[in-house]
Amino acid sequence: MKRAARIDPRLKVALLSVFAIILIFLFYSIFVEPRSISVTRLSIEGAPAKVVFLADLHIRDSNADYIRSVVEKVNSLNPDIVLISGDFILSNAKDLEHLGLLSQLKGRKYAVLGNHDYFSSINLAGSRMKVSEKKEANFSVQGYNVSSMDDGLYSSQMGDDVKQRLEEAGFRVLKNEYEIIDSGGRRTLILGLDDCWAGKTNLPSNLPEADYSIYLLHEPECIADWDYNLMLAGHTHGGQIVFPIIGAPQSLFGMYSFSGMLVDEPNKKAYVTRGVGSYPMFFGIADMRFNCPPEIVLING
Ligand SMILES: [Fe+2]
Repeated sequence: MKRAARIDPRLKVALLSVFAIILIFLFYSIFVEPRSISVTRLSIEGAPAKVVFLADLHIRDSNADYIRSVVEKVNSLNPDIVLISGDFILSNAKDLEHLGLLSQLKGRKYAVLGNHDYFSSINLAGSRMKVSEKKEANFSVQGYNVSSMDDGLYSSQMGDDVKQRLEEAGFRVLKNEYEIIDSGGRRTLILGLDDCWAGKTNLPSNLPEADYSIYLLHEPECIADWDYNLMLAGHTHGGQIVFPIIGAPQSLFGMYSFSGMLVDEPNKKAYVTRGVGSYPMFFGIADMRFNCPPEIVLING
């Protein structure tokens, strides 16, 4: 009788160890990190006090309770101003019904829309298409033109619906528009740029004089060297899954995955947040983050 081939005990241990590491990785990145939100405090000279900045909430049925807890956490910081740089929803008109919970946020609230709010390139194939469309765009200050990104494959109606729900929740939604606010006796310009992946970004001309200017734009890859003091962007989710040494797998597809201080000059900063929500993975089943936890950004708080 033939004896069954025996697996080398050392190989057995190695395989079991790899299996255990994969299980721990999946458990942690699905059930722990996507909800482990913390406050990133930034001290920025000249910027108004107690500004909370968020992006990429991606509100939907599966994370509405989490977003409700984020709203409570933001309110506990007593913000004067709340700024949100797009991607309020994920990919479904049904997501709109959850936007009402943002009415609970304290402070003066301003927002711009992101690509998901227009249903513009919300999957991997669409994202890759943007990588090539972007090559035709002009990101110089003088000749700024992102019309090549306007492939018509989005829903302006959805953008209008998100805007309306946000206005009902107390937001001013800025679509290539601005407002001057008084912050501690200083004139602060808050300018919101409309979504770049939908080809709608356009800087208004003849901007008024202000003591300080904050620009909001969803996609950091579309930032030009404009005359702002503080630019606040999201969109990248910081890569969402970031392996040590290797970095974010999403950058293998040509997608931008940066987070943190993109421009850091004495009177000119651009910050890209890792965001609040997550893009679901495993065929849309599970939120996943690794080495890239969600964040609430508190400026001068
Ligand atoms: Fe997003």
